[in-house]
Amino acid sequence: MGVSFTWIGHGTFVFHFDGHETLVDPFITDNPATDVDPDDLNPELIFVTHAHSDHVADLESVAARSGATVVANVEIATWAGGKGLNAHPLNSGGGRDFGFVHARQTIAFHSSSFPDGSYGGNPNGFVFTTTGGERLYLAGDTALFSDMQLIGAGGLDVAFLPIGDNFTMGPDDAVTALQLLKPRLAVPMHYNTFDLVAVDVDAWAGRVRAETDAEPLVLQPGESHSL
Ligand code: NI
Ligand code: MN
Repeated sequence: MGVSFTWIGHGTFVFHFDGHETLVDPFITDNPATDVDPDDLNPELIFVTHAHSDHVADLESVAARSGATVVANVEIATWAGGKGLNAHPLNSGGGRDFGFVHARQTIAFHSSSFPDGSYGGNPNGFVFTTTGGERLYLAGDTALFSDMQLIGAGGLDVAFLPIGDNFTMGPDDAVTALQLLKPRLAVPMHYNTFDLVAVDVDAWAGRVRAETDAEPLVLQPGESHSL
């Protein structure tokens, strides 16, 4: 069955783990990179890395309609539960087997307030382990940090990294991150959505080939890849 993923744009992805639709960081309606209709998505799980609007803007509507379980830090899960949504809390370092995927929350260095300014807990990334043993690290919004070496220690098939600079690590630090993580494939995200995160992704991909052991996998919004 395996795993496939589609980049919606920015930090938003749809995964299929053994065919089970799973959404990450739903920012769709106001996302300039995509014309996907959020009503066309029917996830079973929605993973949320942090509470910023460019990661949760469509969370409530998609979760309410689909009945998906929101998997996020305690503060975001509690917020979701308060909205009447299904929610499962995790916290940094903790993992859970959801049947068709195991997810572990990693640390991330960023911030995590809700759009109204209320506290959204600590930001996170996720390590997804498939039923077939593939390991995928989705960093969320983060700066470079040296513990990425530990996250990569068990072997990674894919690392999804922000490269857009300004709000997260930029292209230089994302190359260094790959030297620490040592994944097989490197998928860039959180770039070229707005002018503030404009990046020459082809130049970055060339550096990844030259300076790391990872193969860059540059997706266009809407494009999918299967492992
Ligand atoms: Ni953010
Ligand atoms: Mn962001």
